[in-house]
Amino acid sequence: MNDPELVELAQKALKNAYAPYSNYPVGAALLTASGQVFTGCNVENAVYPLCTCAERTAVVKAVSEGQREFTAIAIATRNGGSPCGSCRQVLREFAPHLRILLTDDAGHVRHYTLDQLLPDSFGPESLD
Ligand code: THU
Repeated sequence: MNDPELVELAQKALKNAYAPYSNYPVGAALLTASGQVFTGCNVENAVYPLCTCAERTAVVKAVSEGQREFTAIAIATRNGGSPCGSCRQVLREFAPHLRILLTDDAGHVRHYTLDQLLPDSFGPESLD
């Protein structure tokens, strides 16, 4: 699985987004260390606080299937938006050095690491 393939899967997942309230569809494709990909989209709700982000959908799918080691995530939005703080923290729990690829509807890709987007972060080892 290379980066363009992962980006394409995120763009495909965006098409499943249920975002009637924000009209801001998001797709994610999370790559495991073993090469599996778990996709996710945002799933909104008429009770607004119950909306689930695409990234967290993907993480929850992966972890609930026994996968906890991640190397990269591609996140697709129309405007190339960056992941919210809550999703950064959820990703950090499992993969503090995760590569993050942000893509927009023109196919542009911006590359980051989670360390860059969530510096000096709090994680499991902080509790030791
Ligand atoms: N959203 C995501 O799916 N991921 C993010 O990191 C940012 C926000 C969703 C939540 C909501 O459905 C919509 O985008 C607008 O906030």
